[in-house]
Amino acid sequence: MNNIDLTTKFCGLTLKNPIIIPAGIHGRSGKVIKEISSSGVSAICTKTIVPQSAPDVLPCFVEVPNKTGMLNSVFGSDKFSEYWFTEGIKEAKEGDALVFANLAGYYPEQAADLAQKAEAAGADLIITPTHCPHMGEILNAMFPDMNFQEAGLADTAGMTATVKAIKAAVKIPVVVKLSGSHNHITPEWAKAVKEAGADGIGVSDAFGPALAIDTKTGQPMLGGPRGIGGLTGPAIMPLVLRMVLETAMSIDLPILGVGGVTSANDALQYIMAGATLVGVVTAGHVDGPVRYTKIIDDLKILLERNNVSSLEDVRGLTIKRIQERKENDQVAVTQPIVPLIDIDICTGCAKCIPVCAFDAMWMENEKANINSELCIGCGLCKSVCPFNAIIHEYYK
Ligand SMILES: Cc1cc2nc3c(=O)[nH]c(=O)nc-3n(C[C@H](O)[C@H](O)[C@H](O)COP(=O)(O)O)c2cc1C
Repeated sequence: MNNIDLTTKFCGLTLKNPIIIPAGIHGRSGKVIKEISSSGVSAICTKTIVPQSAPDVLPCFVEVPNKTGMLNSVFGSDKFSEYWFTEGIKEAKEGDALVFANLAGYYPEQAADLAQKAEAAGADLIITPTHCPHMGEILNAMFPDMNFQEAGLADTAGMTATVKAIKAAVKIPVVVKLSGSHNHITPEWAKAVKEAGADGIGVSDAFGPALAIDTKTGQPMLGGPRGIGGLTGPAIMPLVLRMVLETAMSIDLPILGVGGVTSANDALQYIMAGATLVGVVTAGHVDGPVRYTKIIDDLKILLERNNVSSLEDVRGLTIKRIQERKENDQVAVTQPIVPLIDIDICTGCAKCIPVCAFDAMWMENEKANINSELCIGCGLCKSVCPFNAIIHEYYK
């Protein structure tokens, strides 16, 4: 293994690498956190610690088409908050990873009370989510008397009051985790998080509400009144990546990017968009903790292959590239570049032939060819080539 140092500073903490596990099943108890910490991740979040635990409506997991993600309808931690403060966080801290307490109250003072207890129990950082796409509907179905009211998606007042209350109660860093539901108003939320006084920002939680249907029965595949849940995994990554970029371009808080990461290449994309830490949840649920270890190991290999000696050299690189597009008059390139075929790599699989809607591709001697008169330089052939045999570069 090479010597690339992945040590990362985030909100005043020093982490051994940028890969962490945000809230999910691997944060369900102190024992699990302690065990999973041997995967090499630098921090693990608890499942959201809430004032009152509730059982999940079942089934609470389903895979989405082509295994591009997962829907879940889970709530916060199914353990009492007192468990976390008396045993859970203490046991989690016996592992090799920092422990981030993910928590939420129904009102700011309640969140502050939980945060204070989490800090006293040894948590290294507080992270608080802003909105859960499925929670309100399911809570109201389970507890009709509760009449739980969701804040409007553009309403940042609750988050601001919560951050201020938590900041007044604890000394450890406080991070706000945006919801995928804020994806159209990310800069507005990012600025509000900064103004509220948070030390960092997480982007993002699940997207939704989302639905999957069993076509044998017509039933929604998840439990609950309408069977809705939050979408996570690779399907959301391009959206979250753009949210991270917008956040990095709007505010100067350190960013935890989380959404759909399955590989070191995914993690590096988040870092290039401006993230300091990268979270992995669904991939670890689907493949097991070995996925976390692989991403960390592969990240070192990938950086070495790209001649990058420090993460600092590539953090936010995409923001710089976007600036260069402006400076180089490349914000709306319309002049086509015709791709080149690397005939040493082309296997003659012919996958690129039928996708070309401009009849620009043909096979000769079992290799793909491009007619430069017909090619409009769209990039679709390159996108479908399974062997990366098509070279097509508009920007260096
Ligand atoms: C089963 C499951 C449970 C989750 N529970 C929580 C939670 O309690 N609190 C929270 O803030 N986010 C929770 N999340 C959201 C994740 O922390 C993460 O933001 C989201 O899954 C996107 O990352 P991914 O695509 O790598 O899974 C959960 C996600 C999953 C899949």
